[in-house]
Amino acid sequence: MAQYPNTILSQTEAVPVRTAFDLKLSDLSFEKFRELIYSSCGIYFQDNKKYLLESRLLKRMNHLGLESYEEYLDYLKYNRTREDEKKYLYEAITINETFFFRNPPQLDALVTTVIPELVAAKRKTGKVKIRIWSAASSSGEEAYSIGIIIADLLKPKYPDLEVEIIGTDINNMVIEAAKSGLFKEYSIRNTPGYYLKKYFKQKGNVFEIDPAVKKNVSFKLLNLYEDFDMRSMVNFDIIFCANVLIYFDMKAKVKVVSNLYNSLNKGGYLFIGYAETLHMISKAFTIVSFPKTIGYKKE
Ligand SMILES: C[S@@+](CC[C@H](N)C(=O)[O-])C[C@H]1O[C@@H](n2cnc3c(N)ncnc32)[C@H](O)[C@@H]1O
Repeated sequence: MAQYPNTILSQTEAVPVRTAFDLKLSDLSFEKFRELIYSSCGIYFQDNKKYLLESRLLKRMNHLGLESYEEYLDYLKYNRTREDEKKYLYEAITINETFFFRNPPQLDALVTTVIPELVAAKRKTGKVKIRIWSAASSSGEEAYSIGIIIADLLKPKYPDLEVEIIGTDINNMVIEAAKSGLFKEYSIRNTPGYYLKKYFKQKGNVFEIDPAVKKNVSFKLLNLYEDFDMRSMVNFDIIFCANVLIYFDMKAKVKVVSNLYNSLNKGGYLFIGYAETLHMISKAFTIVSFPKTIGYKKE
């Protein structure tokens, strides 16, 4: 049995690297991992995703010097630092695909209708401050895309408009990447040339987001499936929760969407992914149609 790496010395010792040929995830251990992952973050690995889970866990197990999936299960359950280990588990299992301007019709809806409507309503009550949440933000491309269009198309029209954008994700690595504001070419591949030129500074093969946009966008670690985390997220006018519900089962979708509803102000909007729907998940919202997209409004 491998020793858990508790000392600096043991971490620097060479650990034999195991491959998928050496280690196999049994059906029983797959069930146990599936239950542990599902109960802590809502992500549900279907039977046909067993090999995906197997290969994703392997890298972390090699890092820890563990020699079987069962040892990793014990490590997650009984190690003193198991809550910390969950952080690495989430980094291993989440899929973080994202890019700037991923869903332009939603951004158009913000500019032409949603924000003007919210501004008009807020103006009646005083301060024109709009709070936007990019839930499951991954490395921040969605949150910064919103920041860019607000700076470019809405601030000139509404000089008194104050906007706060918060991005959250369960994966600490992507949250740290988001905070850096630095992106590779892959992330900006769908960015219109005009915005690329105006809101990014290129340094070699890295693209840095404009500090004036960056200052209105913050990021933090948050688990959408944790009621405790979700209770801190209140008074939002707009929530984007795109391309994450697909990883949850129906029960988890219902729970997360109901919490998102509670996080919205009356009159606020929820936007989900292009290929996603709230059909059978929630009847609480009014569906609002925009050109080539829809929004879910809390009346
Ligand atoms: C495919 S990315 C979507 C990124 C972005 N919203 C977009 O549409 O481009 C899905 C993100 O959901 C995050 N995620 C998965 N389960 C989560 C949970 N329970 N709480 C918070 N974030 C979660 C993953 O870490 C990942 O970064």
